[in-house]
Amino acid sequence: MQNSRNQNKPICLFDSGIGGLTVLKKLINKFPDENYIYLADLERVPFGDKTKSEIKKIVNEIFEWLIKFEPKAIIMACNTSSALLSHELSAISHQLDVPIYGMIESCAREVSGINHKKISVWATKFVVENNAYKKMIEEINPDLKIEEITCQKLVPMIEGLNFTLEERNKIIHEYLNQTSRDSNALILGCTHYPLILEDLEKLTDLELIDPADALINDLKKCLPPRRDAVNCIPATMPNQRQISLYATAQKEKLERFAKLYLRENLKVNSASLTMVSV
Ligand code: DGL
Repeated sequence: MQNSRNQNKPICLFDSGIGGLTVLKKLINKFPDENYIYLADLERVPFGDKTKSEIKKIVNEIFEWLIKFEPKAIIMACNTSSALLSHELSAISHQLDVPIYGMIESCAREVSGINHKKISVWATKFVVENNAYKKMIEEINPDLKIEEITCQKLVPMIEGLNFTLEERNKIIHEYLNQTSRDSNALILGCTHYPLILEDLEKLTDLELIDPADALINDLKKCLPPRRDAVNCIPATMPNQRQISLYATAQKEKLERFAKLYLRENLKVNSASLTMVSV
């Protein structure tokens, strides 16, 4: 997938809001010399409560906008969009002539091989209503029991940034109480949820699975280390890579969060997509 012609092309990611930064952070750690473009559609967050046709319109519009950057790959850092397109990924990749990755496939493949009996998935309403993880995992390993739980309060809580620890714990407990006691692991099936990983780790003993890890394991096979990064640039040279952030609204929030979470001082640009009113 990578030749010298497209080495400098960016990897484009998108999410409804700040959640996809959890994927971007792991990508930067694993592929530090790549260029990144991140789009947060904070005008229309959350995606997970919207209808299929609403999400489809939004995602098509985002693809149209991202493709102008001539990306080497597009990553849907959003489980909701990934659930919508899980069966159309290769057709759309072909049509747009760019590899497109979702959050669900790699994780489904990886957990299907793990010796667990039952796995719980926390996700948005759309992902759960479409049984996105359940269908994909059970197709590979029908013996693995999957339960999916809609956690509608988590995205507003995480995006809200102003909840007290007590309020956060109360909401998290609500979903832990719905989670089977005999589950072996919990998939964080929304890219926002790793942002409350520390809270979760204190409240449950379940093994917590971030699908971004499986995705990155798969990407490692397609994105070999850049030649210039490995051989040509002396270790003392400053890092050449660029991270560009865009938001359709609430630029300050994305800026603040990039600083807090990515530890990067980045200016957020306005993205003017042709807004579909939903
Ligand atoms: N972070 C996204 C996901 O992984 C979207 C959440 C939302 O906007 O509802 O599903």
